[in-house]
Amino acid sequence: MSVTRPPAPSSRRAALRTTAVALAATIVVGAAAVAIPAQAASSLKDLATAAGKDIGFALDPNRLSESAYKSIADSEFNLVVAENAMKWDATEPSQNSFSYGQGDQVANYAASTGKELYGHTLVWHSQMPSWTNSLSGSALDSAMRNHVTNVATHFKGKVASWDVVNEAFGENGERRTDSALQQKIGDGYIETAFRTARAADPTAKLCINDYNTDAINSKSTAIYNLVRDFKARGVPIDCVGFQSHLIIGQVPSSMQQNLQRFADLGVDVRITELDIRMTMPSDSSKLATQAADYKKVFQICNAVTRCQGVTIWGITDKYSWVPGVFSGQGAALVWDDNYNKKPAYDAIASAFGGITPTTPPVTTPPVTTPPVTTPPVTTPPVTTPPPSAGCQVSYGVNQWNTGFTANVTVKNTSSSALNGWTLTFSFPSGQSVTQAWSSVTTQSGSAVTVKNAAWNGSIPAGGSTQFGFNGSHSGTNTAPSSFSLNGTVCSVA
Ligand code: XIL
Repeated sequence: MSVTRPPAPSSRRAALRTTAVALAATIVVGAAAVAIPAQAASSLKDLATAAGKDIGFALDPNRLSESAYKSIADSEFNLVVAENAMKWDATEPSQNSFSYGQGDQVANYAASTGKELYGHTLVWHSQMPSWTNSLSGSALDSAMRNHVTNVATHFKGKVASWDVVNEAFGENGERRTDSALQQKIGDGYIETAFRTARAADPTAKLCINDYNTDAINSKSTAIYNLVRDFKARGVPIDCVGFQSHLIIGQVPSSMQQNLQRFADLGVDVRITELDIRMTMPSDSSKLATQAADYKKVFQICNAVTRCQGVTIWGITDKYSWVPGVFSGQGAALVWDDNYNKKPAYDAIASAFGGITPTTPPVTTPPVTTPPVTTPPVTTPPVTTPPPSAGCQVSYGVNQWNTGFTANVTVKNTSSSALNGWTLTFSFPSGQSVTQAWSSVTTQSGSAVTVKNAAWNGSIPAGGSTQFGFNGSHSGTNTAPSSFSLNGTVCSVA
């Protein structure tokens, strides 16, 4: 079986990965598998890091004085992006006079907490300082170059990737008409911005970023064509950001395919500003839909090798930009107004295989006090009954067109504990595993071999454990009919 690995991570990601507590999971793509060492994870950061993915959040540095905000920021994310602090109006409030106070706070926070720093954004028609309004085309072009050069140079060596140009396209794939940059400089401003950014910081990855581009549609196709053109002509571009400001129940069905088509052009992809809003007030059913949607988006990124990760546009609903912009809507983030985790939190964890305790539970044997009376002198013969082999498997499936999720429970019905287990089975209808959790799962043809993760290898007599995987099928998804545990055929529940 050939082993494929994700592209080499940046040095910061590599460092993060080595310091992280690894997750028990194996990513299996087709017949190729990447085994991730199995250990415990206790946060979304641990889970994502172990999977080789970024999990980011948009930071307002003014909120770090709030302890609940800071503690979630510190522990749950391995990447940070400035929500506003690195935009044009914040960094160059008057022409050629740069102000990096807030941006530096974000950069310092990233450095002091070991997080990757993502740069947002060098060139955007919105949040431009008012002094740009009076500039003519050529003056705006020079001002833009000067801005990109100064900001990219200032954060050189700190920002790993930049959103060089943000929101350049309209909904029908046309260049955005309400942009002063587009109107005054014309089509060439995007290329100029990318070339200028590369010259200022040759090591940062340079991305184009937009919204309503999550599906395959006119707008995403326009960006696709731009990336293809840039690649063909040697204009520097390394990555594409998909903002993913979504509405509950509306994760586009073509999202994975869309990300993959960009990856196939030879660029990295990333979900850059995820939030999933609902009409207020929220209720448990809307929150459940939202949780399932968050899970889907993370699963999609996990399934696309070149997807670097997912950034969530904030921490708490209390400070989300959504209610201020989309009237009557809100509750779009993962923590509520009081910093309680919403159902989306566990859903995201489950997309990576779930949170596991950092130390396995310690089972203390009961303290038996020896009897005071002297035991009889006669020693009964020591008869150790042979361990009875036995196992039971229950295989639960949720499926859709060509995909499915399987949750499998393995029960040890024998009279002795298992220390390390291997479950084998065959797929009857050509299914293949695409992503597994709580196990190290590999596939060769139709034969699937599932080994325990480090933390769930022991199954006491009568005890059980679970693992799961996502898979694909071609229309028929017959469940495996026979399972063997450590070579013993199991009953099927
Ligand atoms: C938003 C911020 O969250 C708000 O605080 C600010 O008032 C406006 O901008 N797309 C982007 C982000 O690229 O920069 C925007 O952030 C949200 C939409």
